[in-house]
Amino acid sequence: MSSIKVECVVKEPNEIGEGPVWEEKDATLLYVDITGQRISRWSSLTTQTESMSTETFVGCVVPRRSGGYMIGEGTRFAAVDWQKRSITTIAHVDTDKSKTRFNDGKVDPAGRFFAGTMGLEVRPAEVEKKQGSLYSLQADHSVIKHFDQVDLSNGMDWSLDHRYFYYIDSLKYMLEAFDYDMQTGAISNRRTVYRLEKDEGIPDGMCIDAEGKLWMACYNGGRVLRIDPQTGTRLQTVKLPVAKTTSCCFGGKDYTDLYVTSAYKGMDEEARAQQPQAGCIFRVSGLGVKGIPPNSFAG
Ligand code: BGC
Ligand code: CA
Repeated sequence: MSSIKVECVVKEPNEIGEGPVWEEKDATLLYVDITGQRISRWSSLTTQTESMSTETFVGCVVPRRSGGYMIGEGTRFAAVDWQKRSITTIAHVDTDKSKTRFNDGKVDPAGRFFAGTMGLEVRPAEVEKKQGSLYSLQADHSVIKHFDQVDLSNGMDWSLDHRYFYYIDSLKYMLEAFDYDMQTGAISNRRTVYRLEKDEGIPDGMCIDAEGKLWMACYNGGRVLRIDPQTGTRLQTVKLPVAKTTSCCFGGKDYTDLYVTSAYKGMDEEARAQQPQAGCIFRVSGLGVKGIPPNSFAG
C-alpha cells in the first residue's frame, strides 16, 4: 500500500494558477497565472520561481522543440523566448469576436499545439456561453478550427495509443471523447465519457497517466479525480486543502508525482483566511502511478 502525501510546494499564490508542465531537463515546473498575466518556472531543485509578464491573459504555456515556449495569450498563439523575456505573435484566432480569450492548451503527440477559447468572465466560471472554439496550431503555423460553440474550453489529452482525444468544456460538467486521427490531427465522433456529480465541482484541467487513466482537477471541488475513460467510471478521488483546484500534470522523478495548480481569484477575505494556500501549487506523491512526458510544439 502506498500512502498518499499532499504538500504545498509553490507557496507564492496565483490568481488563477494553471497549465502545469514538467520540464525534465531542469526538473522544473512551468505554469501560468492566467489573470495575473504571468508565465513562471519553479525549480524543484532550488525551490525558486522565475517569472515573466505577458501582455494580457495567458491561458496556457507549452514547450517548443526549437527552444523556448509557445503560449495561448489573449486571442493569439505566440512564441516565447525565455532568455530574452520576449513574446512574438504567431497567429490570431477568434478574429470575428471581441470578447474571448485563450484558456487551456496542450501539444498532441505529433507536435500540434491545441488550445481553446472562452468568453471573458464576469465572475469566475461565469461567461457568455458558446463564444469559444477549439483550435490547433500546426508546425507550419497555420491554424485549424476544430469546432465552435464552446462555453469554457478547458482540459485535454490524448489516449496512449493516440486513437482518442479527451476534452472538457467546463460548463457542460462532463468529460468527452473523440476519435483522433494522428496523421491529420482531425477529431470526430464526439461522445460523453463521464458526468460530474454535484459535489465534484466544475471539471477543469486534466492529464493522462501511464495506465491510460485520466486525472482531472475539479474547480470548486477541491479535488482531483482519476477516471477510466474506457468504462466512464471514477476510480479514485484525491482531496486537496483548497477548493479552486484548476489543473494537474505528472512530474518529478520518473513522473511519479502529480502537481496540482489552484486559484484564489473570486474568493472573498473570509474564504482566503480559511484557505490560506489558495492559489498555491501542490505535489501529490505516493499515488503509485506514473505520468508520461509532455509533448513539445513542432514548429
Ligand atoms: C479558467 C478560469 C475559470 C475556471 C473554472 C479555468 O480554466 O481559466 O477562468 O474560472 O477554469 O472553470
Ligand atoms: Ca483550466
